[in-house]
Amino acid sequence: MRVLGIETSCDETAAAVVTEEGDVLSDVVRSQVALHAPYGGVVPEVAARDHARAVVPVVREALARAGVAAADLDGVAVTSRPGLAGALLVGLQAAKGLAWAAGKPLVGVDHLVGHLLAVFLRRDGAPAPEERPAFPYVALLASGGHTAIYRVDGPSLGAIRELGATRDDAAGEAFDKVAKLLGLGYPGGPVVDRLAAEGDAAAAAEAVPAVMARKESLEFSFSGIKSAVARHVAKRGRPEGQALNDLCAAFQGAVVDALVQKTVRAARSEGVERVVLAGGVAANRGLRAKMAAACARRGLALFVPPFASCTDNGAMIAYAGALRLAAGERDTLDLAPETRTALPRVTRKGGGAR
Ligand code: KG4
Ligand code: ZN
Repeated sequence: MRVLGIETSCDETAAAVVTEEGDVLSDVVRSQVALHAPYGGVVPEVAARDHARAVVPVVREALARAGVAAADLDGVAVTSRPGLAGALLVGLQAAKGLAWAAGKPLVGVDHLVGHLLAVFLRRDGAPAPEERPAFPYVALLASGGHTAIYRVDGPSLGAIRELGATRDDAAGEAFDKVAKLLGLGYPGGPVVDRLAAEGDAAAAAEAVPAVMARKESLEFSFSGIKSAVARHVAKRGRPEGQALNDLCAAFQGAVVDALVQKTVRAARSEGVERVVLAGGVAANRGLRAKMAAACARRGLALFVPPFASCTDNGAMIAYAGALRLAAGERDTLDLAPETRTALPRVTRKGGGAR
């Protein structure tokens, strides 16, 4: 089965052709980062307009690189939720038009399910079997828009359960906001990661509180640490040189500690032996290193997808869609965008004890 996947939920216009085994035949990602950088974050209207310009060329390129015509496809998958409504609409309309014209089945995919299954994608040939986890696994999904821990018992919506999520900012959003405060540009994750590697977290510890108040909870809160960095900058000015590196190290260390400790605790309390990372923040070197060490200590197997599978891409949407099609599921041309995920949420947004 060869399925085209289209992704336009946020600031990447992406399309890919993937088989139901997860083989990636093509994967085209066109990032809008440069367009949004002057604003320090994604501007919804700018995103939708740029998707409208890019979606047809990106889809054409994905088909061409895979060497397939629309007539050869077994279906069209598209991100239908969660995301920016106007941005989602562009991908949905493109997918519907193509599916209708080529007479192919259409399936909507929940973007978060795509991220949680991206670990199964096979790029550049098949990886060793141990590089693909068996079910169940506990997954940490940390990106610019989402941060949550899930128990994944299978590839369908009904087999995925949220164990805890952020009450406020996503982890990537915290990186982006802190980078903005420090004058480091957008997106913030990669540059903070690079500076943190040269810094000493202990030297700036007093500027940054621990991210976890209640250890037993699987919920996160990242807005407090961002405010602490803002207060520090307001009082002392923007740090430079080694002091900047130290502050980045302390901030990143606190965020990573929360992500690692809660993910490991979730795996242990669920009695699950496999841990999977997903989302753009999974690129963070500090997170990868600390998660690997913590999993090794507890006898947990850790699966970290390659970077291209962690950040937003069309391949994960095509793959999740291929599994829906293989299960006999279809959507109609009435498929509409939804801003919220279809996965049931257990975490209340907003304040209160954590
Ligand atoms: O998954 P993604 O590409 O897009 C979505 O938000 O869905 O994730 C982007 C986020 C941004 O917030 C970016 O700052 C963060 O991932 N990020 C990182 C790193 N690389 C990207 N955060 C920490 N360390 C990194 N190396
Ligand atoms: Zn995403």
